[in-house]
Amino acid sequence: MDMRHDLATPTPLELRLRETQEAFDSVAADYDGPRGNNELIQRMRLTLWATVRDELPAGSRLLDLGCGTGIDAVEFARSRFHVTASDWSPRMVERARERAEAAGVSSRMEAVHVGVQELDRLDGTYDGIYSNFGPLNCAPDMKAVAAQCARLVRPGGSLVFSVIGRVCPWEVGHYAMRGRFRRALVRGNRGVTPVGMNKHTIWTYYYFPREFYAAFAEHFTLSRYRALSLFMPPPYMVDRVRRRPAFYERLGRLDDRFGGAPLLRDMGDHFLIVMHRR
Ligand SMILES: C[S@@+](CC[C@H](N)C(=O)[O-])C[C@H]1O[C@@H](n2cnc3c(N)ncnc32)[C@H](O)[C@@H]1O
Repeated sequence: MDMRHDLATPTPLELRLRETQEAFDSVAADYDGPRGNNELIQRMRLTLWATVRDELPAGSRLLDLGCGTGIDAVEFARSRFHVTASDWSPRMVERARERAEAAGVSSRMEAVHVGVQELDRLDGTYDGIYSNFGPLNCAPDMKAVAAQCARLVRPGGSLVFSVIGRVCPWEVGHYAMRGRFRRALVRGNRGVTPVGMNKHTIWTYYYFPREFYAAFAEHFTLSRYRALSLFMPPPYMVDRVRRRPAFYERLGRLDDRFGGAPLLRDMGDHFLIVMHRR
């Protein structure tokens, strides 16, 4: 057998991870602009910020999984948390590092090129781990991620994750009205699903909150979860929201008020889930 050839041939999983990496590398330059950080994204971002601050005091050690351009990590470093920001896209990591330098918080924030599938490369003990806007939807083995989180978080420490959910009524309506029925139902797919972005592919796994929690249940208790952007449309419908801002702000307030209610919390563009290390 030709071992050199065998070693050089990427597995299907490695190819998918590489394609996802290339997809995010391709948008890193402006991902903190309208594409990755419009007002609907910022609205959800505030909920994660408030949740992390409710969970942990300033000064705590945080690990950010899939930090993107570092918006959250710099925000927490500014308010005196110590943050290790990690991402699988080297271009995103560069952007996060530059953001930390520009904000003058490099002493409290480091950016490292580590994917969620290789958390065994990280050392240290964290008070909490957070992940915002779906990096964990790109993880090929959620049980392995959970085991690594258990190794990295102290007993009693927190996980705060925003994850792309399976049931987004706005999305179903949006694509069904355009006759794109497969796209409308893409979140129902079992296993890994190709999702296009910027002429690249993001290999994505979708979850119900309880399905997601099952991977963590051995090491973490479930504290709570809630819908993000259930009444409010998902971020790619921002133009619709800009045409009638007052009306949609009222919908946003419905999210704030009822997003944690039984049944409603199982829907939405994303869900925000909080767990504690046993
Ligand atoms: C939608 S962006 C969110 C970025 C950031 N958390 C934010 O709030 O702006 C998803 C991020 O997940 C990262 N990502 C994708 N696959 C990943 C993986 N396997 N491990 C770690 N990060 C990954 C991408 O590079 C990208 O930065």
